[in-house]
Amino acid sequence: MDLYSEIILDYYKNPRNKGPLKDANAYSEEYNPSCGDKISIQLKIEDNKITKANFDGIGCAISQATTSMLTEEIIGKTIEEIKAMDTPDIINMLGIEISPGRIKCALLGLSTIKKAIILHKHA
Ligand code: FES
Repeated sequence: MDLYSEIILDYYKNPRNKGPLKDANAYSEEYNPSCGDKISIQLKIEDNKITKANFDGIGCAISQATTSMLTEEIIGKTIEEIKAMDTPDIINMLGIEISPGRIKCALLGLSTIKKAIILHKHA
């Protein structure tokens, strides 16, 4: 069974930064309509940078683990840096090949984070 790397399973079973973030100032929610999986994101944005990030959600190992990893990866990044992140950055972060059918799972967290940033700007 080599479908998921060990690191993905680890983040899935022991998610980092899961749960509410008390002093968050940016939020969003997304879901994958093809499976119904959901992600919610809470960010603390200060001086154009992400200083804290938490998530919650239900769904497959790839969507949940990728989002958990991202909540660590984006700390200290600027809004512009996050907006510029795309599929290759996620694949790089995961360190495994993702089949075309699962790419949506891997991108769900990033699109939710980007949405939180956009909503924050318009708040
Ligand atoms: Fe739903 Fe992966 S199967 S996000």
